[in-house]
Amino acid sequence: MHKPQSTSNRAPDAPGPKGRLILGSLLEAWENPLALFARGSQAHGHVTRFRFINYDYILVSSPEGAKHVLVDNAKNYRKSRNYDGLRVMLGNGLLTSEGDFWKRQRRLSQPAFHRDRLSRFADQMVSVTDEMIAAWQPRAKSGEAFDVHDDMMALTLRIVALTLFDVDVAGKQAADIGDAVTVAVHWANAHIQTPLRVPLLVPIPRNVKFKKALRTLDTLVQNIITQRRATPSQKHDLLAMYMEAEDADTGEKMTDKQLRDEVMTLILAGHETTANALSWTFYLLSQNAEARERMHAEVTRVLSGRAPTFDDVKALEYTGWVLQEAMRLYPPVWVFEREAQEDDMIDGFHIPKGAGVAVSPFIMHRDPAYWENPEAFDPERFSPERSATRSKHLYLPFGGGPRICIGNMFAMMEAQLILARMAQSFRLDHVVGHPVEPDPVVTLRPKHGMLMRIARPPAVS
Ligand code: HEM
Repeated sequence: MHKPQSTSNRAPDAPGPKGRLILGSLLEAWENPLALFARGSQAHGHVTRFRFINYDYILVSSPEGAKHVLVDNAKNYRKSRNYDGLRVMLGNGLLTSEGDFWKRQRRLSQPAFHRDRLSRFADQMVSVTDEMIAAWQPRAKSGEAFDVHDDMMALTLRIVALTLFDVDVAGKQAADIGDAVTVAVHWANAHIQTPLRVPLLVPIPRNVKFKKALRTLDTLVQNIITQRRATPSQKHDLLAMYMEAEDADTGEKMTDKQLRDEVMTLILAGHETTANALSWTFYLLSQNAEARERMHAEVTRVLSGRAPTFDDVKALEYTGWVLQEAMRLYPPVWVFEREAQEDDMIDGFHIPKGAGVAVSPFIMHRDPAYWENPEAFDPERFSPERSATRSKHLYLPFGGGPRICIGNMFAMMEAQLILARMAQSFRLDHVVGHPVEPDPVVTLRPKHGMLMRIARPPAVS
């Protein structure tokens, strides 16, 4: 444990594990960052300091501390060097940019996510879900086991590309993109974990695979842009807004590179996360029969067999709680990382300039100091009565403050519609014996996929 040190004129350093002589806690972070963080915060409290060689890395796990980093003093916390891997893929898009440039791009993108726009996306979301349900029918008959996570990746990719960019990405192309995303996020993860980074130009196998994956993703994005230039869409979607936007001062339009970065960012940030949320939800429902029956009963009562629409989302209240509870246990973005621009103090501890500062929903969402029976799946926690006294900075699946997920309402609506629509046709049962393990890469993926079988819905449906 670091000894809390104090000098006369500043707060003490946060406590934390001493780790190994040179590496500090680096090996443990490589091996299992979720376990390292959990052990650290249990042993040392809500501000825990880790050392990764010579990098100070401070995990902040109280709602007050998270609010300080994400909201109150957000200007002191820029996205850290741990976003460098993502920057290689996404360039300078909304997720990775900073400062005035980010602010301008955020303002430009925001209208595409307003409520009235979302309402128009709902029918598209349901109709592509219907296509997947139809494709699953043979599996329902044969009882064949399949990886639901692969299908959720394909479904959410198709939805984000259709709604925001009016492009249909399906079949083999969707599968290729799914594979490319898997390669790319593992590369990005390895990139930030390796103290000695091998430049991308060096053709080691990992780099070669990554460059191929990046080419697949770039081709998709380039096709979206080229296709639109050739045949402008009637729809005033996000792509049209980006293409028309002019800088208020210079009158300049976005460059092709900037357009590429924004489209790539939205495609990637806008599907993998939601797919993870859905895969974990299906898994948890299959393990919790009572919650699953209750959700099915709600779907039957609210929809009476017809397809869900935007207007039904509010009434599908329990379905919403199920999703929220699944994202509590398995938050798709399990950590957000920043770098302190200046010295600061959090919960009474000194934060040195240059330190990495992390907020991990995975740790906060399972902390017994804040949650009753935290490991249990209990959607009712999100009922208005039981949420009333909870700090809004304790539950952070979408982050918080100015950098809060721009797609949070989009994602909630999408996932609720998909869950409800699928519940009208099937239940999904997890295949007994198939290993379930969260893989904390950039997002929290099911490491071995999510092998499930289709069963018919209960009699109540
Ligand atoms: C369940 C699904 C989703 C989850 C859990 C999620 C989570 C998050 C989180 C935690 C952040 C903040 C990261 C940070 O502060 O470092 C974020 C940012 C972002 N998300 Fe999401 N997201 C989801 C779905 C979506 C969707 C559907 C879209 C777009 C269609 C999207 C687009 C973005 C973008 C562009 C950012 C960067 C925003 C900015 O910095 O201004 N996300 N997301």
